[in-house]
Amino acid sequence: MYSTAFLDLPPLQAAAGEVHLPGSKSISNRVLLLAALSNGTTTVHDLLASDDTRVMLDALRQIGCTVDKAGSTVRITGLGGRLPQSPAKLFLGNAGTAMRPLTAALALLGGEFELSGVPRMHERPIGDLIDALRQLGCQIDYLGNDGYPPLKIAHGQGVPALALAAPIRVRGDVSSQFLTALLMALPLAAGTQAIVIEVVGELISKPYIAITLQLLARFGIVVEHQNWQRFTIAAGSRYQSPGSIHVEADASSASYFIALGAIATSATGQKDTKSGIKIQGVGLDSIQGDIRFVEAARAMGAVITGGPNWLQIERGAWPLKAIDLDCNHIPDAAMTLAVMALYAEGTTTLTNIASWRVKETDRIAAMATELRKLGATVEEGADYIRVTPPAQSADWKAASIHTYDDHRVAMCFSLAAFNPARLPVRIEDPKCVAKTFPDYFEALFSVAQVETSHIPVICIDGPTASGKGTVAAAVAQRLGYRFLDSGAMYRITALAALRAGFAIDADHEARIATLAQTLPVRFEGGKVWLGSDDVTEAIRTEEAGMNASRVSALPAVRTALVDLQHSFQRLPGLVADGRDMGTVIFPEAPLKVYLTASAACRAERRYKQLISKGFSASIEDLRADLEARDARDSSRSVAPLKPAQDALVLDNSDLTIEQAVEKVLAWWQERQPFAASAQR
Ligand code: DC
Repeated sequence: MYSTAFLDLPPLQAAAGEVHLPGSKSISNRVLLLAALSNGTTTVHDLLASDDTRVMLDALRQIGCTVDKAGSTVRITGLGGRLPQSPAKLFLGNAGTAMRPLTAALALLGGEFELSGVPRMHERPIGDLIDALRQLGCQIDYLGNDGYPPLKIAHGQGVPALALAAPIRVRGDVSSQFLTALLMALPLAAGTQAIVIEVVGELISKPYIAITLQLLARFGIVVEHQNWQRFTIAAGSRYQSPGSIHVEADASSASYFIALGAIATSATGQKDTKSGIKIQGVGLDSIQGDIRFVEAARAMGAVITGGPNWLQIERGAWPLKAIDLDCNHIPDAAMTLAVMALYAEGTTTLTNIASWRVKETDRIAAMATELRKLGATVEEGADYIRVTPPAQSADWKAASIHTYDDHRVAMCFSLAAFNPARLPVRIEDPKCVAKTFPDYFEALFSVAQVETSHIPVICIDGPTASGKGTVAAAVAQRLGYRFLDSGAMYRITALAALRAGFAIDADHEARIATLAQTLPVRFEGGKVWLGSDDVTEAIRTEEAGMNASRVSALPAVRTALVDLQHSFQRLPGLVADGRDMGTVIFPEAPLKVYLTASAACRAERRYKQLISKGFSASIEDLRADLEARDARDSSRSVAPLKPAQDALVLDNSDLTIEQAVEKVLAWWQERQPFAASAQR
């Protein structure tokens, strides 16, 4: 997951390959609650790991369910008729799929509970559900504004007496989650009589109700409905665990990759690469309503085939075809259509999307604002959005996309990186995708293809102990870029050579070069591995540094390490530190920094570093060593240490690390096309 302040996507071109999507959020949280209310233990497979499921699992533990989690499998032993543990204060983040059904279930089960969330959750309506529950006789108070969380359920005396004789009426035109909440909770109260729920107003998002009904059936509850207006829960209903259940991959998440397949070319120039995008985990027979996004994407030009648990997408019509579509049946996935509209000929109109206004953010306003930043012409209404793409390539603008703590805004706007103007796209707060798809960007990068020259590289070269390693790692971390410590390559090569019994000299050059070419090196979890040996510490000694300097003077060794270093230039970008990053390895890099500091200052830093690690050292000796090392690195025949012609020199003798990092980031920002005003 990218936890950076923003993530810059370089202009993307083609895409091909296979993605495995995480489990559906809607299914995950429904299954968790049903398992929690059931008799018996349920093993849930392929559960989505996300903020919303995490808050649900925490809440279920708090009310007394046994929850064992191992990877994406969770075992839950349900209450099975026991009373929940209370009083309890439940924090539910921004998870509507936890807030609404838990409120209903806990109100019917009895006990004392406070349910709250993030500030946005306290702006998302719940009044229609509370009205329905109060009608039944449940005692629920608003702790903040009427009609919104936070809430208090107060049934100190246990299970409330419920008025079930008359049909329970609930509005269906604001959020279908209110009806889902009642459908999942009311079987708790079904005794000798059936329970009837009547929907007031036109029911929106019917497909989500269909998921609820399908899952209830898996847990032994039969619900019949008449025309989506009147729902009957059979008398004597009892939740029974199915034992084990698989969570389908999220069909809304699939929409980004379906769109990707429709937008990106498959051309790679490599014969063995597969064409198109294959999605695993969800297929044409999905129980999720958003699978009908497939029809909309086809209407825009995508060529889609599929089977029970997979989909395959190829680009068809190009440019895409504009559509005019009632999106009531695919409210979440329809946001992806609004971004696909950027690649269509003509104007695309998406209607019947009023529910967008009460989601994680006001999605109509958010989509309109951000699409305009990219250069589109957008008209918005209470329940529709109309998008006309930039007239020509030159009308596209480089935008910093604000994401409003809304995962879907972040994910669908990543598709703007395929713009014909080849502009990068900045996604602010990329970690908001954690709500449903924590590794979304990793999945995108695994199939997106881009000309290597478009993958940005920041080079930070300089003499030993100048602080370049620390600064480069910090810059990489701030940008979410990969990090190449090229000195480590030479250090590891020297170590491997000595372990193989080779002296580091010209006589052994060819053999050491062969060794370097097939170096079994891995950088994982902050550690450096040579084969199965952890060499993190071994390569950091002064002696290892000297050996590295000697091995690095052998031209054949330098050549042997070129490919390995180039292989680090991958999406979304790279920060590389060393001696010749800017001069030899990445000569086209858009930013080259030559980081230096006075010899006295560097000797002192190295001294402090060694002392803090418990080594003894003398400043004079260290200074003599590093001056000797600089002399060798600067005077060698190949790739000597020197600033690249276009490098910016940064003497950080008097700067803190943070100041040096800020300086490099400021230089980087100056080179970006995003308007500074777009940043918050
Ligand atoms: O940056 P460092 O101290 O880990 O580097 C160890 C040695 O490796 C250094 O003295 C010279 C050599 N080196 C190099 O020649 N080219 C690089 N790009 C990085 C390091």
